[in-house]
Amino acid sequence: MKLDHLFSTFRIKGMELKNRSVMPAMGTGYASADGTATDRLLTYLARRAAGGTAMIITEVCAVDTRGKGFPNELGAWGDHLIPSLARIPDALHPYGAKAVLQLHHAGRETFPVAAGGMPEAPSAIPSAILGQPCEEMSVQRIADVVDAFGKAAARAKKAGFDAVEIHGAHGYLLTQFLSPFSNQRSDAYGGSEENRSRFVLEVVEAIRGAVGSDYPVIIRISADELIRGGYDLEFMKRFSPRLVAAGVDLIHVSLGVYSTPGNLSIASMDTDPGFNLFRARAIKEAAGVPVIGVGRITPELAEQAIARGDADLIAFGRQHLCDPDFINKLQQGNEKDIRWCVACNQGCIERLSFEMKSATCTFNPSCGREFKEGQGAGGAVHGPGVRPDGQGHAADTSRNGRRVWIIGAGPAGLSAALAASEKGCAVEIFERDESPGGQVRPASRPPHKEAFLDWVNWAVNQLEKRKVPIRLREEITGSRLSAARPDAVILASGALPAVAGIPGIDSAHVFDARDVLMGRVGLKDPAVVLGAGYVGMETADFLIKKGIRVVVLEMQAVPPVGKFTAHGYWLHKRIREGGGRLIFGAEVTNIGPNAVSFVQKDQEWREPAAMVVTAMGARSENGLEAVLEDLGIPCLTVGDARSPRRLLEAIHEGHKAGLEI
Ligand SMILES: Cc1cc2nc3c(=O)[nH]c(=O)nc-3n(C[C@H](O)[C@H](O)[C@H](O)COP(=O)(O)OP(=O)(O)OC[C@H]3O[C@@H](n4cnc5c(N)ncnc54)[C@H](O)[C@@H]3O)c2cc1C
Ligand SMILES: Cc1cc2nc3c(=O)[nH]c(=O)nc-3n(C[C@H](O)[C@H](O)[C@H](O)COP(=O)(O)O)c2cc1C
Ligand code: SF4
Repeated sequence: MKLDHLFSTFRIKGMELKNRSVMPAMGTGYASADGTATDRLLTYLARRAAGGTAMIITEVCAVDTRGKGFPNELGAWGDHLIPSLARIPDALHPYGAKAVLQLHHAGRETFPVAAGGMPEAPSAIPSAILGQPCEEMSVQRIADVVDAFGKAAARAKKAGFDAVEIHGAHGYLLTQFLSPFSNQRSDAYGGSEENRSRFVLEVVEAIRGAVGSDYPVIIRISADELIRGGYDLEFMKRFSPRLVAAGVDLIHVSLGVYSTPGNLSIASMDTDPGFNLFRARAIKEAAGVPVIGVGRITPELAEQAIARGDADLIAFGRQHLCDPDFINKLQQGNEKDIRWCVACNQGCIERLSFEMKSATCTFNPSCGREFKEGQGAGGAVHGPGVRPDGQGHAADTSRNGRRVWIIGAGPAGLSAALAASEKGCAVEIFERDESPGGQVRPASRPPHKEAFLDWVNWAVNQLEKRKVPIRLREEITGSRLSAARPDAVILASGALPAVAGIPGIDSAHVFDARDVLMGRVGLKDPAVVLGAGYVGMETADFLIKKGIRVVVLEMQAVPPVGKFTAHGYWLHKRIREGGGRLIFGAEVTNIGPNAVSFVQKDQEWREPAAMVVTAMGARSENGLEAVLEDLGIPCLTVGDARSPRRLLEAIHEGHKAGLEI
């Protein structure tokens, strides 16, 4: 891949960037509740700097405690935080990366537990998504927050940051003021476009006043709210030159707010790569300053966008979580080694927002664990530097030659093999199927999920390089274990589909979703899918795309797949628009030759079905655990074999077991 434009330098005021790649702000949950940076955060950031990116924008950093979006958000609300902030540029500069602090106030998009009281906003309109009541800001309070932004920017400069980025996107306080949807004030800060713009312009002016004329000031905007009653791209094209006049040097063109359907601020695999680049170009033309493009941008698209002049810099967000070294690998022409982000959102933003846990990556179990795993400790910050080749963990030869058998080449087994081989174990993987990947193979068949298989190919390629054998079509049995007696076993034998005791379930026209997705059965129309979890919904999506009429029956009254996740939203939409029907609270009583009978609200119903597809969960396949115990062979059971869950648990548990076995 020729990437001359991506690897050209760029200058904004005094800040010279070594290439055009930016790691945009991504909240991690790694900071302390008092707003200070932790070793974990610093090592995670330094690890990305070592990977070759030119500019790292920190995650949201609160300018005022009332504006915290989550309890352990990084802070810049007081001078006492300057020494902690200073550790960030100190950690990044040794790798040639520039450090930018993102200045943030969440407005109404937060909870009292984070904000330390009732959240504040331009108007007392609760967030459409969080439903949290909030309080209208007084004019005095607006002035205080403007002042807080200015003071926080001055602290960033003092702490050694190369620039600041104002978070004016994604539905936080600045967007809330701009939006006619969330700003319904009748004073000088609301009503007309002029009035709604006032707060943001005052923030920019305060920051420019605080940092002086030579210091780069970036603003991140949502170019379009994409909600009914919100502002649109035309407004932003009119407004962006005013941002420049107020003191902005560079505009980071993001998209959407909390209630934008399908979460286009952090678009899932359901949205095409590069979908937002045309807005970057529109803002660049309107504002007359350089812009950063963002939103599922691949390196090829980045190269084309810079060459065409759509954008000057490119933000690669989640790709930095999935593979911190991808920029170096691209520069070295080493694309095959890149672990690609698939935009699943499960391990990063959904874990942070819905599970209230710190962010990581489904496919990169080391993300957020760099400090624990001894992947270097942030150069000048403390201890040895992050390994410049970006690979692996601190050298440890204690397990050299230990014979470790891994049973199952699904994600848990492959991940375990990668970690154990890195620790020096003599690893062999056994897989009874003809191909590795386990359930990832059917999981990659529904629409938009093809890229899931890339991870399997990546893992196999890494294992081949390390000469770890994957013995296909070899089923491990108790007698085989007893004969070979490996030193230790990682049992990653996964899960089989669960079977329900419904009359007629054994009929010839009833198939498991995995077989349907793998093309092992001929499709018939119409189909009834039993179960509306992700597997059932994705199988319905798959069948609808093949032209089959589909009804999904689900026992639970509440949809197990919500529309609040991006993928969930798009699944519901595609199924609905494709003519599929979802019936909840439906208890299936019988599967007949041409129809499925079910009871809903005490009434009996029949749905015609030429084919019935079961997607009713999974059951662990871990019978070898008892055999291994009898043989006295140490064993760690991981992934679905421990309990059926998701890829994240499989890959992370496999990794941990591989490091520990
Ligand atoms: C259609 C579908 C879609 C999915 N989509 C998602 C998704 O989007 N996100 C997500 O997080 N999760 C998803 N999942 C779930 C996810 O794929 C599983 O949680 C994950 O694959 C579990 O990994 P594992 O390695 O533990 O087990 P598996 O993937 O089940 O792999 C186990 C492997 O062990 C082999 N094996 C078993 N016993 C033996 C033996 N005795 N000897 C040799 N080999 C043996 C099996 O053949 C298999 O290849 C999906 C699952 C399906 C079916
Ligand atoms: C876990 C996570 C946290 C995020 N936190 C922030 C944030 O703190 N500030 C911000 O402006 N954007 C945040 N974003 C959005 C990203 O900066 C980026 O715009 C988005 O991921 C789209 O880029 P990508 O498709 O390259 O990942 C976050 C995204 C993720 C995945
Ligand atoms: S969890 Fe999914 S979306 Fe998030 S970085 Fe990893 S692969 Fe990408």
